[in-house]
Amino acid sequence: MTVPPTIVAPSILAADFARLADEVRAVEGAADWLHVDVMDNHFVPNLTIGLPVVQSLRAATQIPFDVHLMIEDPRRWAPGYADAGAYNVTFHAEACDDPVALAKDLRSAGAKAGLAIDRDTPIEPYLELLPSFDTLLIMTIKAGFGGQRFIPQLLEKVRAARRHVAAGHLELRIEVDGGIAADTIEAAAEAGADAFVAGTAVYGADDPAEAVRRLRALADRAISGA
Ligand code: DX5
Ligand code: ZN
Repeated sequence: MTVPPTIVAPSILAADFARLADEVRAVEGAADWLHVDVMDNHFVPNLTIGLPVVQSLRAATQIPFDVHLMIEDPRRWAPGYADAGAYNVTFHAEACDDPVALAKDLRSAGAKAGLAIDRDTPIEPYLELLPSFDTLLIMTIKAGFGGQRFIPQLLEKVRAARRHVAAGHLELRIEVDGGIAADTIEAAAEAGADAFVAGTAVYGADDPAEAVRRLRALADRAISGA
C-alpha cells in the first residue's frame, strides 16, 4: 500500500485574528490544510469563530479547510461548514449520539468526515465506526485552548487506532492536535499519526511557512525511519 503524504495543518487559533487573511496567506504553498478551530463556549469553555468567518476566509485562500468543531449539537451545525466549502469537517464523539449518521450527512454535503476524541475519552468504543470516517482526530491535550503542553500518554490511542487501520486496511487519516511542535511531532509520527495540527509552533514562529516545512520534514523522517 502506498503511504499517503504527511499533512501539516497550521491552526489559525494561534494567528492574529485581526489579520486572518494575511495570516492564512503566510502559510500558502507550505501548509496542506488550514485547521480552523470552532468553539462554542458550551462544549468547551472557550469561544472562537463560526460559520460567517469560515465563509469569508474560504474566499481568501486555496488551502483546503480542516474544520474542527468543538461544539454541542454538531448535527445541527456541521453540515453548514461542508456547504461553506470545508474540505474536512471534524466533530467530537462526546458531543454526538449518532456519529455515523452525521458522517454520512457530511459526505453527502461534499466534505470528508472527521471524528474527534478528546483527552479523557477512550478510543476503543469508536474503532468500529472508523470505516464511516475519513479522518480521526486524536487530541493530545484537553480540547479548548491553544498553547498547552503535549501529553505523550495519549499517543497510546494513536497506536491503537493505527493498528486498527492497518488490520482493516482502512483509508483513514490519523490526525493529532495539541502541543505539536519540533520536539513532539516525531513521537506522534512514530506512534502512527499522518496529519499534524500545529498552532503555536507555526504562528509563534518568525517564519510560519518555514515552521510548517520543518515540522513536515521531522514527521517524514520519523515515519520513514519507523
Ligand atoms: C485546541 C485546538 C487546537 C489548538 C492547538 O483545542 O483544537 O487545534 O489550536 O494549538 P497548539 O498547537 O498551540 O497546541
Ligand atoms: Zn483543533
